[in-house]
Amino acid sequence: LRVFSLSSNQSLAAAIAEHLGVELGKLDATQFADGEIKINIEESIRGDHIYVIQSTSFPISDNIMELMIMIDALKRASAKKINVVLPYYGYARQEQQDGPRTPITAKLVANMLELAGADRIVTLDLHANQIQGFFDMPVDHLQGVPLIADYLIDRQLAGDDVVVVSPDQGGVTRARKLAEFLQAPIAIVDRRYSHASVVGDVLDKTTIIIDDIIDSGLTALTAADALVEYGAKSVYAAATHAVLSGNAAQMIEASPIECLLVTDTIHLPEAKRISKLEQVSVAP
Ligand code: R5P
Repeated sequence: LRVFSLSSNQSLAAAIAEHLGVELGKLDATQFADGEIKINIEESIRGDHIYVIQSTSFPISDNIMELMIMIDALKRASAKKINVVLPYYGYARQEQQDGPRTPITAKLVANMLELAGADRIVTLDLHANQIQGFFDMPVDHLQGVPLIADYLIDRQLAGDDVVVVSPDQGGVTRARKLAEFLQAPIAIVDRRYSHASVVGDVLDKTTIIIDDIIDSGLTALTAADALVEYGAKSVYAAATHAVLSGNAAQMIEASPIECLLVTDTIHLPEAKRISKLEQVSVAP
């Protein structure tokens, strides 16, 4: 078994290698002057089972291309099996056509991985469960909710005083799952145009918004404002994938959200590590 890390999330890859008690494989990833990505695997991997770790986040297209090039290099170097570990699977939010003449990028990226030579995918919290079926190879689809639940239970954020909130209609199943762990009821934020209303009783409750991705932060911030308007005692937010584009982190820091709990599927630079941020690791 050999583990390689690409560029996107080297801290998570190092933590995974430490848990496994293995050294990360040696490779040199550089670029030509125009940005063309170049990879040199600096040790023989002939006949080995390879795990290559790459989150296809920021810069999303470069990270996807770096992964494709790595898979090609592994295949040409006679790896026995190429297991691709995608802690965050980018381009997943276009998993169905939402209008005429629109793409299905989640399927396109799956096709690209297959064509490049991946044998197996290990990933976390795909934006939609059905994306598993876009691959004609085994997919291990791991869940962030149990980790998030453990963290909250350790801090007594569970039970009747707590309400788990889905910030939109699409996230109800996820909210229900977290609520089962916390033995708490759920509420749903119903967003229509610029107004959001809350379905469920949040008056004087500790509310926990749960989502798969926090990107611009607008979904969570809209939900937080609605919860305050409906009388919530406090508002927490949790998500598996902390994309936190632009000034999302700063907007959350200035919002009624008391704490933002995320995992480390995406590497967070210092500028995004606001004081309200708590992180649990998916490395184990
Ligand atoms: C949408 O369906 C997703 O589950 C997330 O709610 C969304 O991607 C969050 O994005 P943002 O933080 O930009 O509102």
